[in-house]
Amino acid sequence: MLKNKNVILGVCGSIAAYKSAFLVRLLVKAGANVKVILTPDGAHFITPLTLATLSKNPVYTQYFEEETGVWSNHVELGLWADLIIIAPISANTLAKLATGICDNLLTAVYLSAKCPVYVAPAMDLDMWKHETTQSNIDRLIGFGNIVIAPANGELASGLWGEGRMAEPEEIVLFLDNSIKKSLPLFGKKVMVTAGPTYEAIDPVRFIGNHSSGKMGFALADELAKLGAEVTLIAGPTAQKADQSLKRIDVVSTQEMFDACIAAFAETDITVMCAAVADYRPKQIATQKIKKEDSGLFLELEKTTDILASLGKAKKSHQILVGFALETNDEENYAKGKLEKKNLDLVVLNSLNDKGAGFKSDTNKITIFNKAFERTVFEMKSKTAVAKDICTAILKITK
Ligand code: CTP
Repeated sequence: MLKNKNVILGVCGSIAAYKSAFLVRLLVKAGANVKVILTPDGAHFITPLTLATLSKNPVYTQYFEEETGVWSNHVELGLWADLIIIAPISANTLAKLATGICDNLLTAVYLSAKCPVYVAPAMDLDMWKHETTQSNIDRLIGFGNIVIAPANGELASGLWGEGRMAEPEEIVLFLDNSIKKSLPLFGKKVMVTAGPTYEAIDPVRFIGNHSSGKMGFALADELAKLGAEVTLIAGPTAQKADQSLKRIDVVSTQEMFDACIAAFAETDITVMCAAVADYRPKQIATQKIKKEDSGLFLELEKTTDILASLGKAKKSHQILVGFALETNDEENYAKGKLEKKNLDLVVLNSLNDKGAGFKSDTNKITIFNKAFERTVFEMKSKTAVAKDICTAILKITK
């Protein structure tokens, strides 16, 4: 969840500032871009050099660096951040945030930022329990900030009690879960199919198609980024899936059907992007077929239409999205599939559009909803197309 996120880590004057080095390390490891702002008191506890080295970015300590003449723009920093985590936050900085005092770079960035702000307090137990601190905490929560509560344990004073900053691992886990929960598809189970299916003729030959799986994999990625728990059922393809996805590899239409049916009842949203074979050889030769006659006839039989079967089993809370790849009379065929297969959306791509369809990195789509309302999109990268499809899905998500 923290991958590619812009994170500002504020570090205040507390002995727990030594843990900030570990926190930076974990945030960077999770893929975040980290910029650290040290308050003047924070800089007594940990050096800017340590945090700059670990974050791979300059550390900000004040508005104006006298030695370099560089002025740090608090507004720019505030707007750069996708999230701010102040860990440790001292009783003093807590009070400043609660009352709007802005006498250093960190407090000015806090006031300028529009992103979620998390604070992980660290102080002695009586300071933490003090009514002033507790009322400041309540005010901060009231402003929409998120408090990562301190733990019980031995404190720097030698006393035991509440006031220890949460451990860096716990903070990162907290941030990760918190981002997940804020995503629009959090708690939704999504199934995506991708790639072709292969129908065996004999042990060495098959009937297949040119689907690369790129569109389905891009969709699975985007849906996961929106917080969904994604099961990706993939036919034979060279595409690599993100580790966060549950990937099930299949070869034939029957295998894809079995995997889809097994997962469908639990699924909130299904996107059937695979280019499924419509026919398969009636008999699969057990030995390699030798060339003997001048011609060879293969008797084919229809495969099961997976999407139509899911459409029949669909409950009212479930969303079903199908694709239609057409060469002629595109819109009518697409609308026909929407109705016949009981879909909520159908994504049409026409092979008449250059750069659309199999193998290419781009696609051009038109989406129809149940009311046959049409949205036409420009030619885009498959990642951008996946985002458009997700936007259409979000509009109808129950
Ligand atoms: N599909 C499926 N099972 C099949 C065939 C297709 O689930 N056996 C799904 C595809 O994944 C796609 C949609 O149905 O989402 C449309 O597939 P397409 O092959 O274009 O349409 P068909 O319904 O098979 O009709 P036709 O081949 O006549 O165009």
